[in-house]
Amino acid sequence: MNSQNPKTSQLPVLRGGMVGMGMIFDETYAPFFEAAQDGLFDPATGPYKVALAGCATRTGSRGAAYRERRGLSEADFGNFAGDSAVEDLLGAGIDFLCVASPDDRHFSAARAALEAGRHVVIEKPSVLSLAELDELAALAKDRGVLAKVVYHKLLDPDHKKLRTLVHDGILSHVNNGYCSLLEPKSISGGQFASWITGRNPGTYVAVHYLKLIDYTFGGRLKSVACTGQRGLVGPKNGPTWDSTQLRLVYEYDSGREAAFDIHTSWVTPDNFPGYVEQEVQFRFDNGVWNGHSRKRGVELTVEGRTPHELKTTVNNHYNGSFLEPWGERSQRGYGIETIERFVREVAYVELGGPLENRPERLTAMADRHYNELAADRQVVAAVQSMEAILAKASAGEPNGIVEVNGPSGGLALWLPGKSEPEILYGAAV
Ligand SMILES: NC(=O)c1ccc[n+]([C@@H]2O[C@H](COP(=O)([O-])OP(=O)(O)OC[C@H]3O[C@@H](n4cnc5c(N)ncnc54)[C@H](O)[C@@H]3O)[C@@H](O)[C@H]2O)c1
Repeated sequence: MNSQNPKTSQLPVLRGGMVGMGMIFDETYAPFFEAAQDGLFDPATGPYKVALAGCATRTGSRGAAYRERRGLSEADFGNFAGDSAVEDLLGAGIDFLCVASPDDRHFSAARAALEAGRHVVIEKPSVLSLAELDELAALAKDRGVLAKVVYHKLLDPDHKKLRTLVHDGILSHVNNGYCSLLEPKSISGGQFASWITGRNPGTYVAVHYLKLIDYTFGGRLKSVACTGQRGLVGPKNGPTWDSTQLRLVYEYDSGREAAFDIHTSWVTPDNFPGYVEQEVQFRFDNGVWNGHSRKRGVELTVEGRTPHELKTTVNNHYNGSFLEPWGERSQRGYGIETIERFVREVAYVELGGPLENRPERLTAMADRHYNELAADRQVVAAVQSMEAILAKASAGEPNGIVEVNGPSGGLALWLPGKSEPEILYGAAV
């Protein structure tokens, strides 16, 4: 075992905890922790080890399965379930908490960890309202810890290239664009069936593109509108949505505007060739960026195994398992790199120099806006607006539109036929 390796046994250890051990844990967190247990290195911190010290889940069964699979003892890995699971996990002595529970359960776990002075990383969408974001951001500041969000699409090499071209002025002024992310029925009908009631695919996946647009192009969010369809996942007049179409309008320093449409679904047929199909197109004053997951390169067919057990359009950039040319097995990609980045940021704060300089190190890491929770304001504003518009629609008041930072307040929901808006958030976004 590595722990007995004299080269690594004396190294400092950063201990992480997991809330939720579902699909995204299996795909990204588990491979990260397994690779990092051997140690990470940065010139600023020296070498250190990273351990997954325990988890808090609803039933405890996935934690038990993980412990067994990895051959871990109870002392090595605390498996907590039930109402006090998060507190128990925090009490087990961890340095940072990863929150990957269903999105309407991020806030309470993140708050408990920040209150206890632990660094936190939250899966997208971070939280569902600006009031929640304000509370978590204030707590992180007060306790002197990092509060971060995972938006791994920002680390996709294709999106890095897009941002580089925009940043360097090679693509100038985005005018409009569309993004679509289509998930198969098995997501809504199987994997998420236990928590999907009252939810919509926009909050779950449109946020990837909300962040991409917000971070890549900057600007000020001006309005949010959303329509959607029901009747497959739940009743046609109920609160659970099959598909959504979100529209955002932004304004830039030049005074010029851009509009973006983001279409999402989790009821696409399971044998749809893309399985998860993603497409974007952005139109600039002087160019067009076209990205399509099925045109990225690879299409694989294996009789009896694709498209379910193996994917037809394999995204080897996100999270691929490989036999390396030098004979090792590895699992890597931007989905895993995002988690590693966060842990390196924590390490820089805690291990990157003398204690008296910790505040400067904390500020340097907190100011990385690509993953900072406090910088997620416009994305959370869009999610909160979309959820409010959809809730009104399912209550019989469709076609709302949210005005952002207008005369009435930060988020003002206007409904047809009403002369006054409903204020979702009073302060400026
Ligand atoms: N970055 C991405 O592309 C990506 C992809 C998938 C999911 N996600 C995000 O990850 C989160 C989880 O998604 P998933 O696909 O892993 O879901 P999942 O349904 O596969 O797993 C959810 C896990 O949370 C646990 N859980 C449920 N309620 C809990 C509670 N109250 N406290 C603690 N644990 C609880 C469940 O036991 C399960 O282990 C969501 O926020 C989702 O949006 C991100």
